[in-house]
Amino acid sequence: MAPLITTTVAATREAVAQAKGRGMRVGFVPTMGALHEGHASLIRAARAECGFVVVSIFVNPAQFGPQEDLARYPRPFEQDVALCAQAGVALVFHPQPQVIYPPGYKTRVEVRELQDVLCGTSRPGHFGGVATVVLKLFNIVQPDLAYFGQKDAQQARILEQMIEDLNLPVTMRICPIVRADDGLALSSRNVYLSVEERQHATVLFRALTDVHRRVDAGERSAAALTQCAADLVAGTPGARLDYAAVVDWRTLRTLDVVSGQVLIALAVYFGPTRLIDNVLLEVKD
Ligand code: PAF
Repeated sequence: MAPLITTTVAATREAVAQAKGRGMRVGFVPTMGALHEGHASLIRAARAECGFVVVSIFVNPAQFGPQEDLARYPRPFEQDVALCAQAGVALVFHPQPQVIYPPGYKTRVEVRELQDVLCGTSRPGHFGGVATVVLKLFNIVQPDLAYFGQKDAQQARILEQMIEDLNLPVTMRICPIVRADDGLALSSRNVYLSVEERQHATVLFRALTDVHRRVDAGERSAAALTQCAADLVAGTPGARLDYAAVVDWRTLRTLDVVSGQVLIALAVYFGPTRLIDNVLLEVKD
């Protein structure tokens, strides 16, 4: 069945209130559209736990830097609604920028420290923009559960911290990365890659697989592991390493020795396109 589409805060709140009035649990999947199988997996996870699933489609200007791809970010709205219909979404919230940021808008959410490392280094202001819009979307939709992909691991960690710090009544689920057959993590930005870049883009998954294997084999030096990943990227035509990092999952601080809950994260440029991928490991000494 086609989902209801709302564009205003009032209509969205009304539809959600009605569902809650009927005793339904509300699951929320915030997106910027250009939906793919990764988003579909989040919707499926939401459907499994919630009677009423809301997807927001909003390309959030506040999380794009001045040199980034806001204007050319893909916006295939009809296709997105079709995917939502197929996946059993009840409500699509599709606001215009002025609904989210009306004239005179002034407030911004910062999740200090966690926002400044990894992707935050090359995308200053990005995570403040993400935290701000997600808090607003939570306040508009008022979901019981919210679903995010592990592909954007730092985003997930930051939002988890925001939920904890601000006592938000939302339970967060972090869902596994969905990959193409050759291992490339699905991303709305993969459409920017040329045929050749698309082939070489598997280097992220290959590097992470290699690092994972080395950890399993007993390697505990974070420097040695990041060097292996960096070398693989350096040997790949068209690829330019942004960062390879081994960090503690909670603090996102760089580790010397791999131990505990560890995030191994990679960001690689192909031309102007920046791809990210990661693996989360529980490393027992
Ligand atoms: O992950 C995304 O698509 C976006 O960062 C989010 C969470 C929808 C906020 O705009």
